[in-house]
Amino acid sequence: MNLLTQEQLNNIRTSVNIVDVVSKYIPLAHKGSNYWGVCPFHSDTNPSLCVSPDKQIFTCFVCHKTGNAFNFIMEFEHVSFQEAVKKVADMGNVKVDINIKSKPSINNNLYKIYEDTNKIYQNNMNTTFGSEAKKYLFDREINDEIIKEFGIGLSIKARDVLVKGLSKKYEMKDLLESGLIIKTESGMIDAYQNRIMFPLWDLEGRIVGYSGRIYDTKEGSKYINSKESKIFKKGELLYNYHRSRDICRELDTVIVMEGFMDVIASYKVGVKNTVAMMGTAVTKYQANLIKRMASNIILLFDGDDAGAKATMRSVDELLELNVTPKVVRLEDNLDPDEYIKKYGKDAFIEKINNPMNIMDFKLSYLKNGKNLTSDVEKASYVNDILHELEHINDDILIELTLKKLSLESGLDVEFLKSKIVKEEKPKEKVTETKKVDIKTTKYEQAEATLLYYMLRSSDAINVYNDYVTNIRIQKYRFLARNILQFYKEFGKIDLAAFLDTLAFNQEALDTVGEIQSLNLKEDMNKDDLIECAKVIQEGNYKDAIKALEEQMSNTDNLEEKVKLSEEIRKLKVRRMKDVK
Ligand code: CTP
Ligand code: MN
Repeated sequence: MNLLTQEQLNNIRTSVNIVDVVSKYIPLAHKGSNYWGVCPFHSDTNPSLCVSPDKQIFTCFVCHKTGNAFNFIMEFEHVSFQEAVKKVADMGNVKVDINIKSKPSINNNLYKIYEDTNKIYQNNMNTTFGSEAKKYLFDREINDEIIKEFGIGLSIKARDVLVKGLSKKYEMKDLLESGLIIKTESGMIDAYQNRIMFPLWDLEGRIVGYSGRIYDTKEGSKYINSKESKIFKKGELLYNYHRSRDICRELDTVIVMEGFMDVIASYKVGVKNTVAMMGTAVTKYQANLIKRMASNIILLFDGDDAGAKATMRSVDELLELNVTPKVVRLEDNLDPDEYIKKYGKDAFIEKINNPMNIMDFKLSYLKNGKNLTSDVEKASYVNDILHELEHINDDILIELTLKKLSLESGLDVEFLKSKIVKEEKPKEKVTETKKVDIKTTKYEQAEATLLYYMLRSSDAINVYNDYVTNIRIQKYRFLARNILQFYKEFGKIDLAAFLDTLAFNQEALDTVGEIQSLNLKEDMNKDDLIECAKVIQEGNYKDAIKALEEQMSNTDNLEEKVKLSEEIRKLKVRRMKDVK
């Protein structure tokens, strides 16, 4: 449970404004008394996430996620409640003494091993062993400042620097798990020898692996990545994410590249809103991360064929998430690093400032290698483009593309348009499944309504206390009980604070989300609240009477029957008095 008191949690939570917290992660627009953004918790392009500065909570009206600043960070960053609290405390400059066990199931020593190793590698770089490697980096215009910023180090030409340096401090099993030390027939040895070592960070900026580059030889593979582990999955991280997140949000643009050297090269010339996926195309996981970083996404891959192919695949992965990126292609098969070196900073920035729309990219990609004077090849090209257009939702982009295609093919725009088979995209699955179930009875509707106001006003809580004996729906009953308990303890209801008490109960949080999504007006006067409670009460009487009637029909005992019938009569009298 919570290590902090509700008062401490309040202090931390109120040290920040939830609007600022959420805007650190996603762009928000001010509308009326609330802020709206595209919900990061389901796949969408419409702003359905409402952030209320008055209540200090967020609610998505499509997927019904709700919560306070802590919950938002927990969900977004996939961290524990404690970690989220710590992060908010840091944002609000509140000192707290919580010992955070990050991701409890994960071997904590791994992080320390990578961190200690980084110190050793960086130190090597600055010894005489490092002079060749330094020269290599300087030749690539990577100066000391950049070396430091990106934590670049060196594994020297020796078998057991890490073995010696780390085995006193860490258990061999952890060292082996890190992949930095390996077991051979002749004993334990360092996995990396004589490579320039680039640390790889997770989304929170902790080192979780390395990529080692050859520099004074052509032998062997150019890069070797440390092995994947519980904390390092290449497809689930983006190089430079933690460093560029704020600037990407600020500029509302993220530039995605293939290699980390490209990120470093752009950084050198002041283009810092970049990430790299370090390998082939963007994975689904990475696409989700990228989507959350900024509204404008630019794919700036290597200029070669492989880069074009990876761009095609990445565009499609993003389109799946309803995100339409832009594309920059570089001439002469250059990658961003080489392009900067050859053409300079200004030409590079000019490139970034003039990205192509994805259909222009696809037109040129699919035209490549085809001879359009041949009718057969032309037909295949036209079909390819029409097929691509099936996935595009932007009508203007479709129209513009058809005009271009018409010019190239000599076919009529209307004709081309008639050939697009629009696939019926399954509409937002989340929307379908997560719909607030339309409550079957008026009693259940009344329960939801009363709970909605119990989350906001003590009037409603008092009405509940005075009029309601039972709540039919179990999860509502649970929520009502928790609200009452909170009210008893603190003498008022504060939704943001109340949510802390549910931080460990996802089902209850979901119920609050469902109730919140009713989106009723803010206040209800006491008379109307009482009316609402009376409907619930009527349902309670109905249930009780029905139960007794069932008992009655199940018994042959005359005495019993008379007794039950008398109870039913009494209930009906009371109902007349209470409900009417
Ligand atoms: N990569 C890898 N293993 C390789 C080659 C590449 O893991 N053998 C990954 C690296 O993470 C690299 C990315 O793929 O950052 C892009 O590869 P590439 O374009 O070949 O590297 P560059 O970024 O051009 O690196 P350099 O300029 O140092 O050659
Ligand atoms: Mn390169």
